[in-house]
This record gives sequence, C-alpha cells and structure tokens, in this order.
Amino acid sequence: MYYHNILETIGNTPLIELKSFSPRSGVQIFAKMEGVNPSGSIKDRIARKMIEQAEAQGLLHTDSILLEPTSGNTGVALALVAGMKGYRFTAVVSEKGTQEKRRMLELYGADVILSSGAAGSNGAIRLAQELVQQEKRYVMLFQYGNLANAAAHYETTGAEILHDLPDVSVLVAGLGSGGTLTGMGQRLKEHSPAIRVVAAEPMQGESIQGLRSLADGFIPPVLDQSLLDDKMLITSQQAWLRTLQLRKQEGIFAGPSSGAVLDVALRVAEHMKQGKIVIILADGGWKYLSEQNWTMHMANDPVSAVLGAAL
Ligand SMILES: Cc1ncc(COP(=O)(O)O)c(C=O)c1O
Repeated sequence: MYYHNILETIGNTPLIELKSFSPRSGVQIFAKMEGVNPSGSIKDRIARKMIEQAEAQGLLHTDSILLEPTSGNTGVALALVAGMKGYRFTAVVSEKGTQEKRRMLELYGADVILSSGAAGSNGAIRLAQELVQQEKRYVMLFQYGNLANAAAHYETTGAEILHDLPDVSVLVAGLGSGGTLTGMGQRLKEHSPAIRVVAAEPMQGESIQGLRSLADGFIPPVLDQSLLDDKMLITSQQAWLRTLQLRKQEGIFAGPSSGAVLDVALRVAEHMKQGKIVIILADGGWKYLSEQNWTMHMANDPVSAVLGAAL
C-alpha cells in the first residue's frame, strides 16, 4: 500500500490508551495523536478542507495569495497544503510565537508578517484584516469564521473516533478557533446525545499556545458554544506540568495544549465511575524545544520534584 502524495496522509491518526492516568478501573482515557499529521499538528485537516472548499467555490486564482493570522500550527499546515497545490501563502504571526514555528513557516515556503506581541493573537487577526483590505490578491480563509474548519473535524476527526471507539462517553479538546470542539462535538452528539463535550480554556491572562481565553473578548464565530457541556479553566503551569507528566508516564512528547486537555480530562475522570474519555493531543513537543517552560516550573512546585527526575 502506498500514498500518492503527502496530503493523503493527513488524518487517520492513532488513538492510544493512557493507562497510567486512569483514576480507577472502568474509567479509561485515550489520546488522539494529532502530532503525527504531516506538518505536525491537527491543523493539516482544516488547511486541506478550507483550501479545497475555496477552490470549489472559485475563490482561488493563479495569482491569489493566501493570508492567515495564526499562532503557528494553522500557518504551517496552510503553507504545506498551499505549497502542494501551487499557491503562495503569507502568515501573520504574533511576535510571541516560538522561533521554531516561525522557522518552520519559512522552511515550508511561507512569507511571514509579524504583528505586535503585546496585542497577542487578536492583534494578528486585526492586522490580517487590514492587509486584506489593502491588497486584492490576498484571500483570507480565516479559520475563526470558516465553517470548513469545523466541517473538517465533523468529517474526519469525529468520524475516526466513532470508528475506533463507538462507546466514547466524553470528549475533551482545547479551545482555539473552536473548530475541533464544534465539528467533533456535532458528530459525536449526533451519534449519541449523551456524549459530553468539555473544553479546555486558558484562564484569562494565561498563555497556552494554540488556546485562547474567551474572556479576552473575541468569540470565534466558528465556535458553537451550545455544544459544550462544560468548560474548564487552566493555568500555563498546570498545562506544562501535565505535558511533562505525559512524556514521563506514557512516552508521549506533546505540546503544552495537550497538557491542558489532559489536566481537564483528569478532573472529569475524578467524578466518573466508568466511561471512556477521548482527549485531543493537537501537536507534538518539537515546535516548543526552545521554551523555558520545560524546566521553569520545576523549582517551586512540589509535583515538579517528582517530574524533575524525568528530564
Ligand atoms: C496546539 C494547539 N492546540 C489546540 C488548538 C485548538 O484547536 P481549535 O482551533 O480547533 O480550537 C490549536 C489551534 O490552533 C493548537 O494550535
């Protein structure tokens, strides 16, 4: 068996049981490994879907330049898919993003425009909106408002979970654009309304790359909040400690948003007698190698003394 090109390898990611995190027999936690997608994150799914939908709608021409405000993963994914389909791509990235992500964008052939770090990801969105007004060749697919974002998860991520684990009882995913929670949430609840959908959201003022706080004022139009049964808040420290623990206990090297969803899943699991929780690990740890956070939290926290032995 072989694939005809790299884009065909998007999706169908492995689902792995995290046995060591189960609080009691009968409660199982499974991780969907989105870091194994070709550009390294869950965003390959939506990049392919959004570009193919825009092509089908006749929005893309040979001189079109795709433009997207992105904290990194969506940009790298769009750079991959655009490049394979022969389109130019420009990413508007907050200065706060990691060097690795910016470097990856450039290596995938994207042009990068930096927006002010102080204005965060909302600043990148505002700048991209201004640029689209100024240059006709720019086409912004805008993941935050594009229904193809959620549709990609309805058609692929959600369908894969139901195929692999039809008796899933809870989904926990991070809240960024809201595409994952909305698309998967719709698909799972159609299968069984009893399936609970829980969002992991950073506490206001806490930075967890890829995730956003709704309290900052921007509610992504693609997010359907009526599908959320619960929303739990996390600090950056909780996310990083769980990310380290995941590496130590299960050998999974994931990014910090994965630690955030794991923390939320463990809180949910605590109150369950039995059931199956699926968590979405949106990317791997590779793009965050330069982060000080891997070691920073260890000095002060009692849990970190244990985790310290892992490094
Ligand atoms: C690392 C990471 N985790 C989680 C998310 C959240 O996914 P979504 O945008 O579908 O809400 C993102 C989105 O950018 C991400 O980059």
